[in-house]
Amino acid sequence: MLRTPLLAAARSPRIRALIEAVPATRAVVRRFVSGAATEDAVRVAGKLAADGRKITIDHLGEDTTDAAQATRTVQAYEELLSALAEQGLSEGADVSVKLSAVGQFLPGDGEGVALENARKICAAAEAVGATVTLDMEDHTTTDSTLGILRKLRGEYPWVGAVLQAYLRRTEQDCHELSGPGSRVRLCKGAYSEPETVAYQDKSEVDKSYVRCLRVLMAGQGYPMVATHDPRMIAIAERLAADAGRTADDHEFQMLYGIRPDEQQRISATGTTMRVYVPCGDEWYGYFMRRLAERPANLTFFLRGLVTR
Ligand code: FDA
Repeated sequence: MLRTPLLAAARSPRIRALIEAVPATRAVVRRFVSGAATEDAVRVAGKLAADGRKITIDHLGEDTTDAAQATRTVQAYEELLSALAEQGLSEGADVSVKLSAVGQFLPGDGEGVALENARKICAAAEAVGATVTLDMEDHTTTDSTLGILRKLRGEYPWVGAVLQAYLRRTEQDCHELSGPGSRVRLCKGAYSEPETVAYQDKSEVDKSYVRCLRVLMAGQGYPMVATHDPRMIAIAERLAADAGRTADDHEFQMLYGIRPDEQQRISATGTTMRVYVPCGDEWYGYFMRRLAERPANLTFFLRGLVTR
């Protein structure tokens, strides 16, 4: 019931200013975000690597309308990748990139700028043995993001993308992206979307998730199963076994701070468990989407505010 207002709040500069002004908020945010500095993300990556979990790091930021900010985001990824390399943590690591943070919405040729900036991040990742996955934002960006993905994959065939099961189009997108070498992270979807393009009912989203999983697992690509949902995880494990997949041709992914015990259980089975680790100080939109996802996260936030 609170999902829609919380997702609307995620886009409101006024509510953002209010929430960011509460001193105790930052301490609560730390459950979901590794910290503001590059070193925080590297420290978390080291801790996760120590028990066999892999990482995808998101330098937080979205909806940039300033070219200089887009350039700073690229530099932040370059620094992050070289810091991971210095600590011996870059091989097999991944970074998650929101194209809106690197220029997709800039006036004029925003898409062209985002493509060029994403190229730079891909080059920096390739140099240290890491990969890049394009996050998926609201449905108005899907075609643009998949178009940029196609261009990037011409040069960097290992670039992955996120598909969101709540979108009605996604089963078809899964068919199109299930070819050899295609890395697809399947999630349920975190934005507020109209009925015309997205399933609204949770059970419809879950059914779509399973249909998409079937397509990806039966395909020739590399499915990345991004969910905390025990039912979806069990179904994915069964579909992977039915398709004859082995531990190294698919993986599971979860968000930092969510179900760490389950992350360790999956990692111990030998199949890759990759943790999505956000870093940076632009945490507001990301944090609000986590609150919208689950009443327990909201309770945790409110309790944190009154007990600090
Ligand atoms: P859902 O929220 O429906 O929860 C189902 C069940 O999972 C719950 O009933 C509970 O059993 C369990 N569960 C969930 N949260 C829990 C918690 N905190 N503690 C204990 N149990 C919990 N979205 C997007 O739109 N674009 C993107 O690019 C990405 N990228 C992305 C990367 C990765 C690695 C992940 C894991 C997720 C994303 N997402 C995303 C977010 C995604 O779309 C979705 O909003 C969240 O993952 C929540 O959906 P779940 O599949 O976890 O199930």
